[in-house]
Amino acid sequence: MSTVDSQQRVLSGMRPTGRLHLGHLHGVLNNWVKLQHEYQCFFFVADWHALTTHYGDQKIFEENVIDMVIDWLAVGVDPGSAALFVQSKIPEHAELHLLLSMLTPLGWLERVPSYKDQQEKLQELNLDTHGFLGYPLLQAADILIYRAGLVPVGSDQVAHVEFTREVARRFNHIYGKEPGFEENAKAAVRKMGKKSAQLYSNLRSAYQQRGDHEALAKAQALLKEQQNISIGDRERLFGYLEGGGKMILAEPKSLLTPASKMPGLDGQKMSKSYNNAIGLREPLEDVRKKISTMPTDPARVRLSDPGNPEKCPVWQLHENYSDPEIKAWVVEGCKTASIGCLDCKKPVIDAIVAELEPIQKEAQQYEHDPDLVRSIIIEGCDTARESARETLSEVRTAMGLTTW
Ligand code: TRP
Ligand code: SF4
Repeated sequence: MSTVDSQQRVLSGMRPTGRLHLGHLHGVLNNWVKLQHEYQCFFFVADWHALTTHYGDQKIFEENVIDMVIDWLAVGVDPGSAALFVQSKIPEHAELHLLLSMLTPLGWLERVPSYKDQQEKLQELNLDTHGFLGYPLLQAADILIYRAGLVPVGSDQVAHVEFTREVARRFNHIYGKEPGFEENAKAAVRKMGKKSAQLYSNLRSAYQQRGDHEALAKAQALLKEQQNISIGDRERLFGYLEGGGKMILAEPKSLLTPASKMPGLDGQKMSKSYNNAIGLREPLEDVRKKISTMPTDPARVRLSDPGNPEKCPVWQLHENYSDPEIKAWVVEGCKTASIGCLDCKKPVIDAIVAELEPIQKEAQQYEHDPDLVRSIIIEGCDTARESARETLSEVRTAMGLTTW
């Protein structure tokens, strides 16, 4: 727990596997932009995670890392609100990964569903590696090192956050039980001063004897306010409240990102590997052309053939971009064959172009000033590193690794 309020801290990472598209914008990125105003946010490029599957492919990393941050900035992720950084620039993640690996049972890693799934899906890659098996543990280190309480992820990542909770619990269980915990905790209570100590003790009894959760929340708030107790004592007092030992690592929760309803040009999920994506920085002329030539309801061979929007991927774009009036016009016009598919596409072309135009303008500024992007990343790294070092130093001490 330390001085960090985990419930206020959000962390998420993205692997640098290529330029971002409208699917990312409507799923992950718009969500990040919203969260950055509500929480203390850490967003990072998970380049080590990309390396677990794409080792040997240096080009990915040279080109995509900065590019991805440019995409983030262009859509409004604000470096003034969120720390933007690159995983491999914070080697503390790797040390925590190593330390946690000592106490992580092999079976836990083998049972994470993505392990076998991805190995089967990506057969062309050899994923029979230590690094790939350790993927979820590296992710756990990413999260735990910032004591992030909230992790925005898609449904495919929920199992990884659950795994992270188990690792944190195991760590706290093993290392939170310092010798003389009771005595140390009682001494820490006294250090809060008479009034706070009394209040803490009353709230603790209310929780432990009557299961009063409001009292628990009040006591936690009280601890957060304490200015003159050490980080170690604070952790003891958090742990003592709930009856266990010290809570050194905070258990995170996943914050499920609402699935993007943005379809690809063929009506399937938008994805670079399906070749159906509209890139955020794709020239607008190409975007117009792509939408103009995208498939429609196959029943509408001629203009005079009526169609059904439910069978048409263009309709799904209207669902994302058009107001009720336009949508009514589409349904009526399509079913009665009174509009052509090109007419029907025009409002979504206009809406997508209008959405992309300001993003591309922003992106251009950053493309022309790579030093600015680098300095934003360096600043984000500094913020991240400071926080990571604090956790790591407590972890080392808890594990008996003397620091001098
Ligand atoms: N595994 C995540 C993905 O593929 C990326 C990731 C790495 C991540 N570390 C993380 C996400 C920590 C959230 C928190 O999308
Ligand atoms: Fe699709 Fe619109 Fe053509 Fe109907 S009119 S088939 S909804 S593009």
